[in-house]
This record gives sequence, C-alpha cells and structure tokens, in this order.
Amino acid sequence: MDIRVEIEKLKKEKNAVILAHCYQPVEIDEVADFVGDSLYLSKMAATTNADIIVFAGVHFMAQSAKLLNPEKKVLLPNLNSGCFMADMINVEQLGAFKAEHPNIPVVCYINSTAEVKAESDICCTSSNAVEIVKSLNVPEVLFIPDTYLGKWVEYKLGNVKVTTYNGFCPTHLRIRPEDIEVARKNYPDAKILTHPECHREVCKLSDFVGSTKEIMEFAKSSKDKQFVIATEKGVVDRLSRDSKSYNWGKEFILIKDDIYCQNMKWNSMEDIYNSLKYEQHEVTVESNVFEGAKKCVEKMFEALKTGSVR
Ligand code: 13P
Ligand code: SF4
Repeated sequence: MDIRVEIEKLKKEKNAVILAHCYQPVEIDEVADFVGDSLYLSKMAATTNADIIVFAGVHFMAQSAKLLNPEKKVLLPNLNSGCFMADMINVEQLGAFKAEHPNIPVVCYINSTAEVKAESDICCTSSNAVEIVKSLNVPEVLFIPDTYLGKWVEYKLGNVKVTTYNGFCPTHLRIRPEDIEVARKNYPDAKILTHPECHREVCKLSDFVGSTKEIMEFAKSSKDKQFVIATEKGVVDRLSRDSKSYNWGKEFILIKDDIYCQNMKWNSMEDIYNSLKYEQHEVTVESNVFEGAKKCVEKMFEALKTGSVR
C-alpha cells in the first residue's frame, strides 16, 4: 500500500486536516495541509472547517488547537510527543512562583499545559512574545516557563522587567557559545540565525535571532547564500529542500549534529495513517481548566488585533 495515497483517502473520507510543525520529520509535509510554527498552526486550527484535526506536533500544540476549536476532534498521532519545557512547570510550581512575586501579570509561553495556561494571564508564542509583553503596557511581567525567551523579550523591550521561571528547552540549550565561534571559523561568509530559546550568550553572538518562522523568512529573503542555523534540525531540512526545489542556490548548515527534538520526531507516516483510520489519540482538556486556558490563548489573539489587552 502507498501510505501517502491512503492518508489522502482517509483525509477526504473523514473531512480531516493535517497540521505539521516545522520540527516534524520532513516527509510528513507530503501529506500535511498546513506546515508552520506554533502561531501559524494555532491560527489554522482556530479557523478550519474540517471535522478532524490531526496535529503532527507535540501535545501542548494539539491541546491549544482543541482550546481554539473545541467542536473539532483533535488527534495526536503518537502519544510520546510531549515537550520537556512544558513539563517543567505545573500548577503548584506556578502558584509558588506567583506567591514569590505577587500582583504581576503572568505571560505564559504556549509551550505549557492547559492547567498552567488556565492560571496565567495571557499566552504568547516565540514569534509574538515581544509584542504580547509590550501590549500589556506594564513595568514588570512574570514569564513562564522559558527563562531564555523571557530574557530575550526583556532585552528587546528594554523598559519592562521580565522575571522568568527557570524552565528551558534542552534541545536549544545544547547549542553553546563555542559552537557559534567554531561555525564562524568554518563558515566565515555565513549568516548565523538563532532561535530565542537558545542561551543569551549564543543569541548575542548570532547575526539574527527569531522564531522558527522568522528564521525561515529571513533565510528566504536574504541576499546571502550560506546560513548556519541554530535551532531544530527540521528547519534546516525544510530550508534545504526548498532551496533545491525553487533553485535558491542557498546552503543551510545545522549548527551541530545533535540539534533535534526527540519529542518532535516520534510521529511517523504510519502513526498519521493509524491516527486517521482509528481516530486515535484524541486530545481533550479537563472541563475545570478549559475556560481559563481558552481565555489565556484567546487573549493572545485579541492583543495581536488591538495592540493592547488591558
Ligand atoms: P515556534 O514558536 O517557533 O514554532 O517554536 C516552538 C517550539 O517548540 C520551539 O522549541
Ligand atoms: Fe519542547 Fe524544546 Fe522540543 Fe520545542 S524543541 S517542543 S521547546 S522540547
């Protein structure tokens, strides 16, 4: 059987869409309807008319899709697809963090559970974190769970104190300042593009810091021909494929070999096929946190529309 053909058949039969994050194994794009970063996929999840959303990504992304479009059946093809960073903070830990810093709005990275979102004031993704914090128009925020994205926001805004929880992404933290120095020596003409989940010292040494989408857009529109990419391997795989397909004549080099997120690599074509065929594994959100978590994610979209949520 040709698994791609079978997946397409099931999609039609069941009125389903497949959303794929750009850290997924690159072959998944061949059956995906939408491929992109967390923000883009959240938008697609919120507006789709399909009855079933198959989320080729990690659990918090599928959960966010459910919050944004509760009538739909949201499926996660492989239940191992968690996120180390999202698991670094739970409701009790958030409660203790808030108690240490009372009466300060909590900005919660979308890489978090629905329970944690329900106890936060507003959500953000890596591509709008700066804008979201700015929109609050306050002198100080608490930022959870990623300390590095939070500190990046503080640096970018300059006039807001960002007190961060001590979460981090183990994949992005594997990139060390010395890796940037080695890349500079090996590829003196290359531009180094880095995700803000990386260590501050790594960001400081880079040519450009941006979310997955921003990195991809920068690379595509730049006049430069060679790029060292300091984020997850899926980004390099997609950029290299597109450079070949559309004759960009550009070269993309992963900063070092082991920069891939194990959580993002669980999903296989077989998992996607089985997910559609047996409608497994449905992602739900507990009713006691649903409204709070939904509000937290929706406030992000409102803030983007109005420029202020206060
Ligand atoms: P994006 O917001 O860039 O999609 O990043 C998601 C993520 O998990 C990065 O590690
Ligand atoms: Fe989570 Fe890091 Fe993987 Fe992103 S790359 S899903 S933050 S573990």
